[in-house]
Amino acid sequence: MSNVLDAIELTRKEALLALEKVGDVETLEKIRIEFLGAKGRMTEHMRSLGSLPKDERPAAGQAANQAREEISAAHRRAAESLKQASRRSQALDVTLPGRKPPRGSSHILNRTMDEICQVFAKLGFSIVEGPEIETDYYNFEALNFPADHPARDMQDSLFVGDKLLLRTHTSPVQIRTMEKRKPPLWIVVPGRTFRRDDDITHSPVFSQVEGLVVDKGITMADLKGVLSAFASSFFSPETTIRLRPSFFPFTEPSAEVDIACVLCGGKGCRLCKGSGWLELLGSGMVDPALYDFVGYDPNEVSGFAFGIGVDRAAMLKYGLSDIRHLYQGDLRFLRQF
Ligand code: DAH
Repeated sequence: MSNVLDAIELTRKEALLALEKVGDVETLEKIRIEFLGAKGRMTEHMRSLGSLPKDERPAAGQAANQAREEISAAHRRAAESLKQASRRSQALDVTLPGRKPPRGSSHILNRTMDEICQVFAKLGFSIVEGPEIETDYYNFEALNFPADHPARDMQDSLFVGDKLLLRTHTSPVQIRTMEKRKPPLWIVVPGRTFRRDDDITHSPVFSQVEGLVVDKGITMADLKGVLSAFASSFFSPETTIRLRPSFFPFTEPSAEVDIACVLCGGKGCRLCKGSGWLELLGSGMVDPALYDFVGYDPNEVSGFAFGIGVDRAAMLKYGLSDIRHLYQGDLRFLRQF
């Protein structure tokens, strides 16, 4: 009896040891055949059970079955781990073409901002920036918005403290620059601006490019010349502009500048609501009242200013219908540009 049990135990140990050490599928198959095959050692043991005395058979049979199950399980584990190892080594196949990491690109809004600034850079303007948190003085007072003036209401300000607000426009940088520098001044100011406003044409965060020219003998003809050069360079050579009388506290006279409709060219369509024109920006001759704040002599110099809504310019140039797409960071939208 003990002879048979010893033989089964020896086979079991040898099989498990071999399976623990196995390192390739060919050896694994040889082990399987040697121990579990039709003529393998476990099959031999099973067969020899028949020639045992009757009272020894149950114990020997049980030992043989258990050993065979253990060996089978160890064989399955060894096969699985060899398969995983081979998958891992395939992942390191250096002959496969590499995976390309997604490439970033400049945001449509930044691109529009750069395009606008580039046009003015070619006309001799330099680029200046200013803070996004402004004082009441720069955002309003020095721009000739008197305290309690109704024009302050039009700006839907977001205050962050007493007399401290998120700038509602880039115009404060006009004052900041004039305080620091003497004319001649030809500058553009790209930047983010903020108002309490939110619908398909207004975002609480939006972007402007401010322009300011102060020099000797500047007239409204210079304003129109510069802005019409901008329109034909930014949109298309055929794009014309027109000036409409308007009001801003810091310019006198003031004008809204319209461009001929980018869709119909001026004939009238859905985009321009039949008028042939699209509003693009505010502008005007610098109100001499501003020169008092910064110590310029209005008898020596004159100038013009303008403020371009970058979002609106981008929407018109690229045919966008909802301004909020520009601020939501949805890659499905952004990848189209
Ligand atoms: N700051 C004005 C606004 O945001 C836009 C503007 C109008 C700027 C006329 C100017 C200007 O420089 O001359 O509503």
